[in-house]
Amino acid sequence: MKGVVLAGGTGSRLFPLTKITNKHLLPIYDKPMIYYPIRTLVDAGIEDILIVTGGRNSGDFLRLLGNGKEFGLKHLNYTYQEGEGGIADALNLAEHFADRQKICVILGDNIIEGSIRPAVEEFRRQQRGAKILLKEVPDAERFGVAELHDGRITGIEEKPKKPKSNYAVTGFYLYDGSVFDKIHTLVPSLRGELEITDVNNAYIREGTLTYSFLEGWWTDAGTFDSLLRATNLVAETERRRAQVTLVQA
Ligand code: DAU
Repeated sequence: MKGVVLAGGTGSRLFPLTKITNKHLLPIYDKPMIYYPIRTLVDAGIEDILIVTGGRNSGDFLRLLGNGKEFGLKHLNYTYQEGEGGIADALNLAEHFADRQKICVILGDNIIEGSIRPAVEEFRRQQRGAKILLKEVPDAERFGVAELHDGRITGIEEKPKKPKSNYAVTGFYLYDGSVFDKIHTLVPSLRGELEITDVNNAYIREGTLTYSFLEGWWTDAGTFDSLLRATNLVAETERRRAQVTLVQA
């Protein structure tokens, strides 16, 4: 399966940190943010990867990542999003790359402790449709929120004032080749973006959206608080892993 990392947008919520660089190049503990989603894809067995970036500092991605040698990759693909038309607009740029095959999409500011490999393996066996990953959170109003009835998702609301559940839709999406047909029918939301939530709701209407729950911690890193939280979680996890390695040695 091919993978797409979405790292466009202006990162306006992190201004002035993002005044002279792209949000996804900011540090999370000891690595630039973009390293984490790439590593998540590679660890899930996905090696054909497209990075969608944008803004004035997009050239820095090439200098930082090159052909992905640090991740054991032979090659990385890049494309450029004009403006910030939303997550679905950024994904639309992957149409040629995806070539109507299944894809695994990951938001460039989403960081996890565990692995998405089980979900990727399940989706390989899913005949058609899409799969999303949910996580129970205390602040669901910051995210896309899934409404669940009898174990099925009946709808997703983007940043609702009164969330219908505590289950956030995380930034990991598995789509079949029809995702681009769905994107082509979208109209911009009130915030002027093509919303990934509208894409997922189109799959719900079709009856082909499945989900699973993400194990381990998950955070985005697009606000000052979540950027700090991401750094602290990564640092803590690294320290724990180093201790385990010491004990085993
Ligand atoms: O983190 C998970 C959440 O991400 C989901 O629960 C929401 O449903 C989803 O809409 C998204 O919410 P945010 O408002 O937090 O997304 P944000 O605008 O911060 O964008 C997240 C990433 O998507 C960003 O790091 C890069 C990529 N992106 C975003 C926009 C707006 C692009 O590549 N291009 C864009 O135009």
